[in-house]
Amino acid sequence: MRQTSTEVAVVGAGPAGLMLAHLLGRAGIDTVTIDLRTRREIEETHRAGILERDSVRLLVDTGVSDRVLKDGDEHRGIELAFGGERHRIDFPSSVDATVWLYPQTDVFVDLADARERDGGDVRFGVSEVSVADLESDRPAMRFTDAGGTEHEVRARVLVGADGSRSLCRHEFPPALRRQYFREYPFAWFGILCEAPRSAPELVYNHSERGFALISQRTASLQRMYFQCRPDTDPADWSDDRIWEELQARVGANGLTLEEGPITSRSVLPFRSFVQEPMWCGNLVLAGDAAHTVPPTGAKGLNLALADVAVLAPRLAQGLRGGDVPRALDDYQETALRRVWKAQHFSYWMTTMLHRPPDASDFDLRRQLGELTSLVTSPRGAGSTYLAEGYTGWPDPVLSFH
Ligand code: DHB
Repeated sequence: MRQTSTEVAVVGAGPAGLMLAHLLGRAGIDTVTIDLRTRREIEETHRAGILERDSVRLLVDTGVSDRVLKDGDEHRGIELAFGGERHRIDFPSSVDATVWLYPQTDVFVDLADARERDGGDVRFGVSEVSVADLESDRPAMRFTDAGGTEHEVRARVLVGADGSRSLCRHEFPPALRRQYFREYPFAWFGILCEAPRSAPELVYNHSERGFALISQRTASLQRMYFQCRPDTDPADWSDDRIWEELQARVGANGLTLEEGPITSRSVLPFRSFVQEPMWCGNLVLAGDAAHTVPPTGAKGLNLALADVAVLAPRLAQGLRGGDVPRALDDYQETALRRVWKAQHFSYWMTTMLHRPPDASDFDLRRQLGELTSLVTSPRGAGSTYLAEGYTGWPDPVLSFH
């Protein structure tokens, strides 16, 4: 077994792990980051596509890449389609902010390229990952690299950024740990298709047949989702059946979709989850390892980036000053304030727009009442509330220059 040491060992090379390694690297702190998946596997997983204003600033201002500003699309609002009509929510006029359509895969590529450019140590495609000695001041991260060599990396702090199926979060003593869950009785059927855009901005579509989201990727590639049962097998759905369902849902509100060949299809689970605490001993959690949100509103990636924007300066200060626990003292409180706001926002968008399987006419009418009050409140309170959450709540702790 090859034994080495570093300052921070990071389990998980998704956006949370790589952004943390990048921010620590800028502060002169050494990291080793590992991931069970190969770089190619991560690049080929389709995820959400909306970046909050502060996520864009984090990528650009800390020198990861400014590709989002060149290849991404700035969106100044969204549409809510319901009750036979489409309504636009404008962001700049109410909250002076916008969002960017830029897929998570591209964020990952930018971060992985930046680590390579800056000489960061990232190992993809490892196996046999475990962590040990978390209560000691030299916790260990063990793994077998893609070439078959076993490694033990001793660090001062271990970070679990290993996603919603996190190994690291199970290392917290059960007596200390609390887990908060919510399951939903539906999922999303997601497709990528080769077609022109059907609308200039994202359309969140409520209908009696269930929710649909019309998103985009490029001028010739589109991303769409529709609410389905959680046990749906994507193979049971022909292209014709998918288009029929999508057209019926958006047609009810006056939109017609541009159709084209479907190049990818998958079913996305829905759940809300938080584990507290987010750190214990020398193990810290960040991103999906600590919390998962349902996809409505695209908060997952943004929350992961916000966690590490809070964590990195505290870790750097603790490692330099020698008192990591003291420096991390307010990490969890600060991160969880945003996490629970985002939990509520994702839950709210989800429950306002989806049809529960046992929905009564009352439930559907009540949803229409809620949506109507959002888009018609005379002083814009409803649309401002949505815009604040969607663009990401401005937060002074995220000043990371
Ligand atoms: C996308 C996904 C979302 O969950 C969302 O709310 C908006 C956009 C997307 O993949 O484009």
